[in-house]
Amino acid sequence: MRTLRTIREVRAALEPVRSASRIALVPTMGAFHDGHLALLRAARAESDVVVASLFVNPAQFGEAADLSRYPRDEARDAGLAAEEGVDFLFAPAVEEMYPEGFQTWIEVTEVGSILEGRFRPGHFRAVATVCCKLFNIVRPDVAYFGQKDAQQVEVVRRMIRDLDLDVDLRIVPTARDADGLALSSRNALLSPEDRERAAELPRALATRDPGEARRLLNGFDVDYVEVAPFEPPVLAAAIRVGGIRLIDNVVLKGADS
Ligand code: PAJ
Repeated sequence: MRTLRTIREVRAALEPVRSASRIALVPTMGAFHDGHLALLRAARAESDVVVASLFVNPAQFGEAADLSRYPRDEARDAGLAAEEGVDFLFAPAVEEMYPEGFQTWIEVTEVGSILEGRFRPGHFRAVATVCCKLFNIVRPDVAYFGQKDAQQVEVVRRMIRDLDLDVDLRIVPTARDADGLALSSRNALLSPEDRERAAELPRALATRDPGEARRLLNGFDVDYVEVAPFEPPVLAAAIRVGGIRLIDNVVLKGADS
């Protein structure tokens, strides 16, 4: 596996293989867990060349504290990516992605403003923009995203359609711990007691009933529990446990969409 730092290096590395290969991109912010590895594995199984990006996108963080405590361990991530058969790890500096004078943003106006968008203004604009940039830099045939972030998937899907981007999307099911908690790099920030309580989130969503889920989450600081009109529809929720914000969703199979 080669680690690439600049857009020039990515283009030079992919240029010779582009015409004969199916190129996969797995965008990430690092701090790999089994959810990320599931994306890398799916990409490896279905493509010739696998590019993973590792970029903690400052623009998509609301609070400076959230950005500064985001876990970073590039050496560990690079080792795991190599084990999963990733060919190229694109790990650019912030200045490479946001050069001085940067001022062009992509706003998915409706899908980006509901649910998470209400609580994290500007978040999906930054996600859409960085994903579009990554698509333009790597020019993948296919990009892999996790169902864990169902609204992110919906935002990227809408952007691809609206801007005629030439990339297929693959969505990988949510990887969970034994007690059902969706894997997230933020789980490591929970105290042992909060980690245990956090499992009530997937339990509540498993009812697939917004009223019942809200009732079960009564003791938490709940941002929302709502049916989201995505493809497929999901019951999505965001709660705060000990100051850590957790999101999760379950697919509503058979729901009218
Ligand atoms: P990050 O949180 O690192 O997640 C990278 C990818 O892994 C996303 O597609 C996310 O949905 C997926 N993922 C995270 N936890 C998962 C889980 N438990 N099961 C399955 N997939 C999971 O999402 C981002 O980074 C960023 O917003 C990004 C798309 C890279 C843009 O900056």
